[in-house]
Amino acid sequence: MKPEAFIFDLDGVLTDTAEFHFIAWQAIARELGLDFNLEDNEALKGVDRAGSLQRILDKGGLSVSDQVFAQLLDKKNRHYLTLIQDISPDHLFDGVLACFTELKSLGIKIGLASASKNALLVLTGLGIREQFDFIGDAASVAHGKPAPDIFLSVAKGLNIKPELCIGIEDAVAGVSAIKAANMYAVGIGEPGVLTQADLVFASTAQLDIGKVLASVA
Ligand code: BG6
Ligand code: MG
Repeated sequence: MKPEAFIFDLDGVLTDTAEFHFIAWQAIARELGLDFNLEDNEALKGVDRAGSLQRILDKGGLSVSDQVFAQLLDKKNRHYLTLIQDISPDHLFDGVLACFTELKSLGIKIGLASASKNALLVLTGLGIREQFDFIGDAASVAHGKPAPDIFLSVAKGLNIKPELCIGIEDAVAGVSAIKAANMYAVGIGEPGVLTQADLVFASTAQLDIGKVLASVA
């Protein structure tokens, strides 16, 4: 297969926003009298905002009215926005710009498939918004990861068949979404965790485009 597009996740692949999501969710959990540790946060990676809150409530055996649920989502996001306000190109993971340059030189398109409704804001802060041929809109897809919707919408936006796309993800839910979209999945993290991925690199800095292309050839 000769890939025509690489479709990247944002949080955890291009930059490390997981810590900011963690701080903001932990504040909400504390307010509800619930525990929320790093392991809990790990399970939320790639999961959309409402899905994350639902999991936190389920784990704590709590249920709240729709109105309170919406208020908690809003509060979490306002906190998250204050935490990311100083995000800058310094927060870009090593290797990202080199990857983009290499992909462009090979004529391979670059897409973004993030579950975050704050993706444009983060991309702008990182200074890479203009690098993408198509940026998916998390707010307009029916189902969040692990459903394939966001990856399929980006393939469609790029006008490239899903089977000619390569997805790059750090989260278990994200890798499942890539596979459900019938794409080749590159994981960033641990092979023992990202078991569904076709190929795994320990970090974005180690992402080797040549190796990916060789493994799908
Ligand atoms: C994903 C993150 O990229 O976006 C999740 O991994 C986060 O932790 C999700 O919950 C939704 O983000 P946002 O910015 O829309 O709340
Ligand atoms: Mg991620």
